[in-house]
Amino acid sequence: MAEPKTGELMQKIVSLCKRRGFIFQSSEIYGGLNGFWDYGPLGAELKRNIKECWWRSMTQLREDVVGLDASIIMHPRIWEASGHTSTFSDLMVDCLLTKKRFRADQIEAQSGTAYFYTGASDGQGSKECKDAFSVLIATGKHAEYARKVARQFYQERGLENPALQGERTDELKNTTRYNPENGSLLTEPRPFNLMLKTYVGPVESADNISYLRPETAQAIFVQFKNTLEVSRQRVPFGICQIGKAFRNEINPRNFTFRSREFEQMELEFFIRPDEVVQKRAGSVASLSDPQPSTLNPQPSWGWELWHKYWVEQRIKWYESIGLGRDTLVEYWQKKEELAHYAKATVDILFKFPFGTQELEGIAARGDFDLTQHQKFSGKSMGYFDEEAKAKYVPHVIEPSAGVDRLALALICNAYCEDQAPDEKGKLESRVVMRFHPRIAPIKVAVFPLLKNKPELVKKAKTVRDLLRPHMSVFYDEAGAIGRRYRRQDEAGTPFGVTIDFETLGEQGPALQDTVTLRDRDTMKQERVKISELVSILLEKIR
Ligand code: GAP
Repeated sequence: MAEPKTGELMQKIVSLCKRRGFIFQSSEIYGGLNGFWDYGPLGAELKRNIKECWWRSMTQLREDVVGLDASIIMHPRIWEASGHTSTFSDLMVDCLLTKKRFRADQIEAQSGTAYFYTGASDGQGSKECKDAFSVLIATGKHAEYARKVARQFYQERGLENPALQGERTDELKNTTRYNPENGSLLTEPRPFNLMLKTYVGPVESADNISYLRPETAQAIFVQFKNTLEVSRQRVPFGICQIGKAFRNEINPRNFTFRSREFEQMELEFFIRPDEVVQKRAGSVASLSDPQPSTLNPQPSWGWELWHKYWVEQRIKWYESIGLGRDTLVEYWQKKEELAHYAKATVDILFKFPFGTQELEGIAARGDFDLTQHQKFSGKSMGYFDEEAKAKYVPHVIEPSAGVDRLALALICNAYCEDQAPDEKGKLESRVVMRFHPRIAPIKVAVFPLLKNKPELVKKAKTVRDLLRPHMSVFYDEAGAIGRRYRRQDEAGTPFGVTIDFETLGEQGPALQDTVTLRDRDTMKQERVKISELVSILLEKIR
């Protein structure tokens, strides 16, 4: 089957998300709210499964990571210490004509003829506006296009019938100073802080300003000491957290990819500074060693190997939930791209239909965050290492992933159009969401072959109730069996169980209490005993 084009594919995915209840526009009946999304029944299950898989792999399957669940609004000094108050901003520009706001780095470079005006006067010359303005149009296009836009600009400034003044032109190449939508000049780029503000308490004064956290990470740093004390962990160890984050993004876009409210899954993994490793182990193993192994953590590992270790752990985790290595790109940020405190950052990118974009960043942040909080709070973040007999502020490796972005990646990755036979064996097109069973919203659908046979319905409901305590089950008796399979294919349900007359023993005792188990991807059906169904399915979905 021909592959749908990128834009067309995204449209199909967005429409399936709404139709099947993965993702809805927030506040839709009021016209929506840009950058905010709601997850419907299937989307809510998908997100829960993502978070549970991450939490399990980060904490329950490891000895050296514990969890935290901190508040969204925290002391505003935290954001001063972390640098968010002063530097967490994007450069933005406004269209001088429509006032529409853009991120400066998202304006595409254009070439053409720029028309400059020094101002305009009213038809009768009674009113004047001295604001300079400029319009960019494609080379060769009639000057009247530029003049029309310029007149609109001066009309907005109170001139009813503007006569343009001081027109001159210039040929410009690769400029990002003009609105690609209408050619109007943009304002100079200026920083726009992305934190969402609110007031805590009954008085709306500057003293009561607080912020909805723009990342979950800072709570981990400020609870480092408390968590260390109660968990009896020793460096190297980690603290992880899943939770909401808010950013007043200038241009939310690409469906849920860049939202204003989203969830993060972050780990701060605290390690010894390299000098302490050197003192204790005699040398520091690093990436430049002849054959550096990053499989099993070693006391001799410096930050480089811990960083690489986490990059590999994270990629393995993505593979375990169905994002193959071929769908991911490991991007090592260049020196000039690194944040000032970062020693190295690797972005794990996913090949979305709209481009290869970041899913997760894994940064080696040194001791920047703990040192900043030590400075701003006046509380020591020092750690006494019994084994190394040294006191230091731990360094940190931070794998930081977005739940919503990952949900979108999994949806894009799962979307597939192919052909499947209907009840009469005739091939028909189907949309199938090939979710890995671990993250599929519904694990198994249970169908009685016929709705109007009470014995079949009764038995099917018994099977549903048998499976329910172990996994998410969907019971469906409406319509032809082929239709019911198609509905589950679109929901991404990996397994279907059909209760038929053989189950009831009508074809003899050998098949009594057996059902057909259908695999969504191979469409193969096998006969299995009801008594073995739970263990067979658990094996496949864990
Ligand atoms: N503590 C580090 C940190 O927050 P980040 O690269 O700004 O780093 C980490 O964010 C992850 O959070 C991103 O890789 C992405 O998955 C997710 N994320 C960030 N901004 C987002 C947004 N506006 N919408 C959806 N997800 C976002």
